[in-house]
Amino acid sequence: MQLADNPITKVIFEKLKFKDFNNLSNLIYDQERIAEFQFKFHDFKIDITRQTLDKEIKNDLINLAKKAKIKSKIKKMVSGFKINQSENRSVDHFGLRKKERFETQEWKNLINFTNVILSKRSFKTIVNVGIGGSDLGPLMVNRALESFYKGPKIFYVSNIDPINLIEVFEKCDPETTLFIIASKSFGTLETRENARIIKNWLAESNVSLNDAMVAVTSSKEKAKKWGFKKSNIFHVSENIGGRYSLWSSVGMSILFGLGEDNYKKFLHGAQTMDEHFVNEEIESNIPIIFALLRIWNRNFLNRNNHCIVPYSNSLSKLPAWAQQLEMESNGKSVDIEGQTLKMPASPLIWGEVGTNAQHSFFQFLHQGLETTPIDILIPRKPIKNKKFSHLMTNHKHLIVNAIAQAEALAIGSVDFTNKNKNFPGNRPSTIISWEENNPFSIGMLISLYENVTIASGFLWNINSFDQWGVELGKSIANDISNNDGDEKLSPSAKDFLKKCI
Ligand code: F6P
Repeated sequence: MQLADNPITKVIFEKLKFKDFNNLSNLIYDQERIAEFQFKFHDFKIDITRQTLDKEIKNDLINLAKKAKIKSKIKKMVSGFKINQSENRSVDHFGLRKKERFETQEWKNLINFTNVILSKRSFKTIVNVGIGGSDLGPLMVNRALESFYKGPKIFYVSNIDPINLIEVFEKCDPETTLFIIASKSFGTLETRENARIIKNWLAESNVSLNDAMVAVTSSKEKAKKWGFKKSNIFHVSENIGGRYSLWSSVGMSILFGLGEDNYKKFLHGAQTMDEHFVNEEIESNIPIIFALLRIWNRNFLNRNNHCIVPYSNSLSKLPAWAQQLEMESNGKSVDIEGQTLKMPASPLIWGEVGTNAQHSFFQFLHQGLETTPIDILIPRKPIKNKKFSHLMTNHKHLIVNAIAQAEALAIGSVDFTNKNKNFPGNRPSTIISWEENNPFSIGMLISLYENVTIASGFLWNINSFDQWGVELGKSIANDISNNDGDEKLSPSAKDFLKKCI
């Protein structure tokens, strides 16, 4: 059932005719709101008191989720049913964070390999080469948990722009660098091309491919054909979507950085959030509540974008990662039966770290004509840093600014004499806070966003696990590179290509 056909959708639209949600500056002073609009789970505190809705609408949204049978959809997914129908696949990444994984041969191979490499002091740098899900997740975790990383320095190469690879080559020695070629399909142009250049670069120093490169892929045959020996190929199941692949061997660079014990804490954090998602009642199920807010803002209040601002420099890559997660998953226009959606799905997801973002696009958030809901993320304590502990007191400025922005956006400040200085307020935000950045909390945070994406997809009744929309551009680029299908190109495209290549 599409969102538009959910009987509660109509009920809510009827109520909206008589309700005015331009009163956030009053709503947030209601003491009772704290009990209804704040949630706690482990060290996570969630504050949705600054969302433009009241208790009645919140209850309607919960009923909407019930009518959409969200809980049974979640159960169906985690039981291994092939819910990704367009690719005939199940959604298996939940299993990768469970303890049972540690008994599998795949896990043992991964651990053995990383231990062997780490014990070889000769490896000083590790480079992950991949793009999209084979890059953004591991890169984001690298930045988030860098203070826990030991061992070799880790770099990331994603773009086909040669500059990306050249910059990394300049920091690496071919004799002491391990390259992880992460590509689920082993067919992605960017990754294959970068791998080819790396192979040649190594050969110039007489380093053979299998001494310095490993492949992580679902397409073992393609990797073999490319030149990898069997023991240098690490498997990713077809049923692990690219957006979720950081939990698979694609996350090998995370394992290298964190080491086994911290990596297990990271998995446990994600699994803890998964259990909450699967078992908690809708009324207090944080990912489902967040998904309902996505729908509330996107479909009922017509807010077509959503901003993510982590007040933690370590989370600088989280907005880019969340952008792929949500927009590749839910940027769809048909439902699971192939019917055109009557109401739009994914909002535009964007963001940047605070406080930097305050000095760039917050002007738009405060005074632009459009209203953008925003997630404000903040670890309540700084990470422990023995060497610079005296500097960490500055963390309080992050806390102060995070809360100040949430208040300013909600309350505003009226100035009728000088409209340039008028702040309309009534701009919704959610504050997500946790004790401190560590493997467990970052695991929980990632799983939270993943499960929000999945839950919103269920409410829209779309398939959040395929990504056919990326294919057309790839195929036209392929045709152009092979001098094929020229007749279909526009005169402007032909002219541009003639002048540039
Ligand atoms: O083009 C989009 C995409 O297929 C993503 O879904 C995926 O994460 C990325 O490309 C990389 O794909 P692969 O791991 O197969 O190289």
